[in-house]
Amino acid sequence: MRAAVFTSLLLSLGTALTAPTARWSTDVPSGFVTTNGTSFQLDGQPFAFVGTNSFWLPLLSNDDDVHATFETIAAAGIKVVRTWGFNAINETELPYAESINLTYYQVWNSSGWTLNEGSQGLQRLDYVLYAAAIHDIRLIITFTNNWVGYGGADLYVNWLAGAGATHDVFYTDPTIIASYQQYVQTIVNRYKDSPTVFAWELMNEARCASDLLTASAACHPGSGTLGLWYQQQSDFVRSIDPYHMITTGGEGQFYWAQPDTYWYNNTLVTDFNFDGAAGEDFEWDLGLPNIDFGVYHMYVQTWYPELDYPGSNFSIEDWGLDWIEAHALTAQMVGKPIVIEEFGLTGLDNKTAIYPTWVQRTLDSNHAGVMFWQWGQLNLTEDGGNHPFKYTDAIVNGASPNDGNTVYTNQTTVMDIFTQAAAVQAQRSA
Ligand SMILES: *[C@@H]1O[C@H](CO)[C@@H](O)[C@H](O)[C@H]1NC(C)=O
Ligand SMILES: *[C@@H]1O[C@H](CO)[C@@H](O)[C@H](O)[C@H]1NC(C)=O
Ligand SMILES: *[C@@H]1O[C@H](CO)[C@@H](O)[C@H](O)[C@H]1NC(C)=O
Ligand SMILES: *[C@@H]1O[C@H](CO)[C@@H](O)[C@H](O)[C@H]1NC(C)=O
Ligand SMILES: *[C@@H]1O[C@H](CO)[C@@H](O)[C@H](O)[C@H]1NC(C)=O
Ligand SMILES: *[C@@H]1O[C@H](CO)[C@@H](O)[C@H](O)[C@H]1NC(C)=O
Ligand SMILES: *[C@@H]1O[C@H](CO)[C@@H](O)[C@H](O)[C@H]1NC(C)=O
Ligand SMILES: *[C@@H]1O[C@H](CO)[C@@H](O)[C@H](O)[C@H]1NC(C)=O
Ligand SMILES: *[C@@H]1O[C@H](CO)[C@@H](O)[C@H](O)[C@H]1NC(C)=O
Repeated sequence: MRAAVFTSLLLSLGTALTAPTARWSTDVPSGFVTTNGTSFQLDGQPFAFVGTNSFWLPLLSNDDDVHATFETIAAAGIKVVRTWGFNAINETELPYAESINLTYYQVWNSSGWTLNEGSQGLQRLDYVLYAAAIHDIRLIITFTNNWVGYGGADLYVNWLAGAGATHDVFYTDPTIIASYQQYVQTIVNRYKDSPTVFAWELMNEARCASDLLTASAACHPGSGTLGLWYQQQSDFVRSIDPYHMITTGGEGQFYWAQPDTYWYNNTLVTDFNFDGAAGEDFEWDLGLPNIDFGVYHMYVQTWYPELDYPGSNFSIEDWGLDWIEAHALTAQMVGKPIVIEEFGLTGLDNKTAIYPTWVQRTLDSNHAGVMFWQWGQLNLTEDGGNHPFKYTDAIVNGASPNDGNTVYTNQTTVMDIFTQAAAVQAQRSA
């Protein structure tokens, strides 16, 4: 479909990549998912899956609601759920958090962060792992966020580097790295014997800039800032946990010598997802020895609102198909599994129209995992079915948070697409 892809892949792969080693895959404990070439493997059998995202599961304070959610997810054939392993607040937010039973694991002040292992602290995450295991579901657990949401990297930057620091010092400042690693070690040590952990994830959607802070000139296409951080942190996690898989959590942007271009308003534009502008270099990052599989995200509507303009030469659907194939091809060449870890469209009609084609293409291109953003649970009972979390996230009339991408179980035209894909993946897992 796109000859240019292959050429630039070969150029950028160069000699930087060595064949991935399987040094630990033969001795992982039983029940742990591992990799074997471009497939996942569980107890000697291939393991392919449909998964979903639910950042809010640890925010629930009602155990029955956690169970009901996993029960419904399992009934849809879904095997893997991704959730946040971070929930950090400022000390000034404590009164609010306590007034609504908001889950938080880290409280920041100028002395650094304090861990919350209480009943609205890490015990909520403990319970999520416990309930997932009962329903034979495994979790991808993410250590921090590029974005402000639920206390990401910018809290480390604010409190440890101070006013005026740019977002990208998160990746380079030794004090910040030590603080991040201390938190990572806390989480990894807590669950490192659990087969319910599918994989550890270094950061959600790492970029040079965030929604709050800008990037410095040091973080630029080709600087390798994110790649070196991925290398350092994946090596660190492997040093404390030899068995669980590790991935980046990135959006999967490429850094190509000849990035893709497209027409917008009759002008030729360089595609920011292919020119390294955001900070990632998907091929280099996936080649790292302790990055076990590739992940990428896909939000075509929000990334390219201009595709709806006259004078654009391709559609949301086609751009998505191209993005799916580019990642499948890279993973094939590197020899590791590929997972579309988040994707979403707003509007039920948009989902119904486009998801079948996208999901089919992920299956046709041998994706080991297909995970939509995000799971929508109905009939939650906590606080009578109405409970605010943070920002605009809330349980409303028993329905889990709705960001427009949410797929609720009553939206059967969409849910059926995933249930059918789950059946295909289950066949491939035999
Ligand atoms: C990897 O998968 C192949 C089949 O695709 C199988 O023959 C081989 O035994 C597997 N390797 C391990 C270490 O399980
Ligand atoms: C946390 O505190 C820092 C420093 O006072 C502030 O810059 C930041 O906006 C606060 N973040 C949140 C999420 O409240
Ligand atoms: C917080 O949870 C406790 C039980 O753990 C409950 O008694 C209390 O009503 C809850 N408070 C709010 C504001 O939801
Ligand atoms: C930060 O919080 C910790 C834990 O509550 C506390 O011991 C410490 O005194 C606080 N530091 C400052 C400067 O307020
Ligand atoms: C859009 O235009 C660019 C630049 O001419 C071209 O590389 C790309 O293949 C076109 N896309 C489609 C879907 O025609
Ligand atoms: C499209 O291009 C025309 C002509 O250059 C310009 O006047 C118009 O503002 C552009 N529209 C958008 C949405 O960028
Ligand atoms: C469906 O997608 C189109 C194209 O992105 C967008 O303009 C429209 O708002 C979407 N519909 C809904 C209900 O979100
Ligand atoms: C779930 O809630 C909906 C309303 O949102 C209701 O129509 C339905 O009967 C409920 N289902 C169950 C199993 O309670
Ligand atoms: C499904 O549930 C959601 C949340 O309660 C509701 O907004 C929607 O109208 C229901 N029905 C369909 C077909 O989406």
